[in-house]
Amino acid sequence: MTETREPTPLSWGRRYLMCRPEHFRVDYAINPWMDIDSPVDPDRALAQWDHLAATIEEAGAVVERIAQVPEAPDMVYAMNYGVVDGDHVAITSFRHGERAVEAEAAEWWFGEAGLRTSRVADSRAGSFEAGDAFLVGDSLLVAAGPRTDLATHHVLSRTLGVKVATVGVVHPALYHLDLSFCPLDGRRAIVAPDAWDAAGRATVAGLVPEPLVLDQDEAFTFAANSVVVGDVVVMPDGVPTRVTRQLERWGFTVATVDVSELHKGGGSVRCMTLPLDTLLDDARLPVVREQRPGKGDLVPA
Ligand code: ARG
Repeated sequence: MTETREPTPLSWGRRYLMCRPEHFRVDYAINPWMDIDSPVDPDRALAQWDHLAATIEEAGAVVERIAQVPEAPDMVYAMNYGVVDGDHVAITSFRHGERAVEAEAAEWWFGEAGLRTSRVADSRAGSFEAGDAFLVGDSLLVAAGPRTDLATHHVLSRTLGVKVATVGVVHPALYHLDLSFCPLDGRRAIVAPDAWDAAGRATVAGLVPEPLVLDQDEAFTFAANSVVVGDVVVMPDGVPTRVTRQLERWGFTVATVDVSELHKGGGSVRCMTLPLDTLLDDARLPVVREQRPGKGDLVPA
């Protein structure tokens, strides 16, 4: 007998922070999709972004906006600012200096919004970028690869008090986890194992009972870089029908948007949205208390 299970919707994905591309440009190339000789059409980028934001709102989510800093052309990819855990945000420590100013702008915005921020920075540990982290099952699944150093995983775990599961990302064009992984509901995710090392594939297999597996060409359509609002999956135009059909068979509604101008920076739908309503309780580690002194050792404060 085959068991059919109703998907349990994600506990998050109904509030996003986005940055309208007022100053979007490709001034430098820090991933293989970026070509400084291929110009961006600013009006088209704005119109595409407006349509994306409207589509996410129509799906039932709230969109908050942060103004783009003119010197930060990549700031439109808001997913990378940090990982939100209730009223606390673990702020990205960017790999590339070109994006460092975004962390400051995000820290300011979160402060104004009444959230507490911590930097996942440790001069020896290296960089951590939030596009590399998702809550999956009982863990925060975090990439170690082009943008995030393995040595930051313990810093992140300590900063947020969560269990971290590591996935090694080895594909230069699928350089953030959100290009090869998209959580759909409690059991399902879109996955592109070509992006990962063998240990990472095994880790994800243990966390996701029902994966929708993409091959490399399908992953290159940015199919995994999608956003899920309840049972609506907002995806970029050009995703293969094999993928959208499977989503529909599972009971999702697919909404596609043309964000081709924004693909020039190497990011798509997910990269442009930072979920603000994530709470990492499912991955929470028990609080470890300092060893208490014995009675006889008590000294007045
Ligand atoms: N140009 C940006 C970078 O290379 C794109 C970031 C895409 N964002 C993402 N979450 N994958 O950093």
